Amino acid sequence: MPHFLNLNAMPLPVVQQLLTRALAFKDGEKPVDKATFVTNIFLENSTRTQSSFQVAEAKMGMQQVSFDPKTSSLSKGETLADTLKLFKAIGTEVAVVRHFEERWWDALLADQGRAPMPNLINAGDGSGQHPSQSLLDLVTIQENFASFANLNIRIVGDLAHSRVARSNAEILTKLGAHVTFAGPIAWYPSDFDEFGAHVALDDAWEQQDVVMFLRVQHERLGEAQSAEFDVAQYHAAYGLNDERYAALKKSAIIMHPAPVNRGVEIADHLVEAPQSRIFEQMANGVFARMAILEYVLGA
Ligand code: CP
Repeated sequence: MPHFLNLNAMPLPVVQQLLTRALAFKDGEKPVDKATFVTNIFLENSTRTQSSFQVAEAKMGMQQVSFDPKTSSLSKGETLADTLKLFKAIGTEVAVVRHFEERWWDALLADQGRAPMPNLINAGDGSGQHPSQSLLDLVTIQENFASFANLNIRIVGDLAHSRVARSNAEILTKLGAHVTFAGPIAWYPSDFDEFGAHVALDDAWEQQDVVMFLRVQHERLGEAQSAEFDVAQYHAAYGLNDERYAALKKSAIIMHPAPVNRGVEIADHLVEAPQSRIFEQMANGVFARMAILEYVLGA
């Protein structure tokens, strides 16, 4: 049975199949009941990912085994590997894991020959990948445009710390979109050059089909950088304001993985603007995660 760890390591036909399944669930297709156990292990904070996995699991007919890292035996020094082996031993087939370390699964997969583990779903690994967010973003883009080919997609903001940017830049490029990046150059990792150029935010702005803003991740910036951060300056240079919104193509859409720092990445009143798809992205998260659960259960 497969794990779901990195969308970019999967063959494109499988990604396309996941997209098709997510859209089918959104269209009302009823999943085959999966009467099995699942646990959600979130070692970093989350609202959207955790709660939409919970809803998706319930819709799939799965039983959730609760897990709170603070009251679990992780706090007594039990390793994540032993925790996962325990869950498998008691009959839990799937574990959804959010972890502060990039590629947290490498050591676990190397260890899995010693005892069985549940099928793993990556709910975000440090600044690495966020594959379930990428899938829901693909669902949202596919709903708005006939194809990914030749779409102009700009990803804006804190690229260095963003697993969403890293996941999306790669998969969108593979699907044929033209990706560009904007934001403070200090937050631009040069390995993103492989997927597209870093440009001024307003460069060819009126040609963009999708503009994806990223949250400024104060928790990853460090105290000094965070203390220096000037909201007004950032918003003027890299944020969505009325002028930029008015200059968008009428068919263009605004995306943000959320949580949004209102008034920083996007002006407060534009978060729910007609061309914003931010809450649609959240709704699509449930259907994308149903498709992922179906995939790891081998359906
Ligand atoms: N987009 C996202 O991952 O949000 P949460 O951190 O709230 O899960």
